[in-house]
Amino acid sequence: MEGNFKSLNKSVYIPFDSVKNYYLYSTAEGGVRYLQYVNGAGSYTLEIKPNGYKPKTGLLLAKSIENKIRGKKVLDLCTGETGVIAIHSASYGAKEVVGVDVDKETVDWANYNADLNNLRNISFKTGNLFENVTGRFEVIIANPPQMPMVDESLHDSGGIYGREIIEKIIVNAPKYLLPNGEVYMLLFDFLAVDKCYNQLPSIKQIFEKYGFSMQIIKRVKRLVRKGGETEKSLKYIMEKYPSYSFESDGEEYYHEVFIVRAVLGN
Ligand SMILES: C[S@@+](CC[C@H](N)C(=O)[O-])C[C@H]1O[C@@H](n2cnc3c(N)ncnc32)[C@H](O)[C@@H]1O
Repeated sequence: MEGNFKSLNKSVYIPFDSVKNYYLYSTAEGGVRYLQYVNGAGSYTLEIKPNGYKPKTGLLLAKSIENKIRGKKVLDLCTGETGVIAIHSASYGAKEVVGVDVDKETVDWANYNADLNNLRNISFKTGNLFENVTGRFEVIIANPPQMPMVDESLHDSGGIYGREIIEKIIVNAPKYLLPNGEVYMLLFDFLAVDKCYNQLPSIKQIFEKYGFSMQIIKRVKRLVRKGGETEKSLKYIMEKYPSYSFESDGEEYYHEVFIVRAVLGN
């Protein structure tokens, strides 16, 4: 693999302030080919699929849970083509990791990345969330698609309220968790995580309904990037969550990204 890097440009990648030790390797034209994480024996390199996604929020989630999964059996739902959360979990000592994505090509690419890093305690499965999952886990991690939008983007769309996949995960997770099992999820604040912004219950209340106790363990401010998916969905966010307001400095809009921890049976 080292030889492949020679003709590429290396740059530091810090998608969020707390996410360090990542490097991108890009072609002269700017196409990102590899994402590398440098951490001694836990280092790994992920090949980015041509025209594929470069993880951002996934790295924030992976870094936030790295000290919580040692020796545990972990399920990573909506794993994506890099399989980064699953691979990060294995590099931080998870006993066994299963990654799931609904798209077969995505799963093939994630498998390729696990092989690239000689990781043997990871398996990836194709399936709609828990559809092909068997057994129970100590930890379920998910960075699900959650943008309120009408289009069918597998990567981003959470349906018109943004919560379709989140709610399916919460409702079904108890059947796949061991006693006192935990769910770690990345959630956008405008979806009403611990406050209500419309007639719907908060996501915290939904967790409670299914036997979990939920707390926000990390809050990170995020710019609404011009031309990005959040900006494109502003109309739906404002329409569906009318009591939510974006922070603004007059020029830019910001919102928060939360990492939540929900413990079963508390
Ligand atoms: C936001 S990306 C997250 C990728 C990666 N986990 C990360 O954090 O960078 C969402 C992923 O969820 C997958 N996905 C969408 N609907 C799904 C479903 N019903 N079951 C499993 N995976 C799904 C998509 O194919 C996509 O790869």
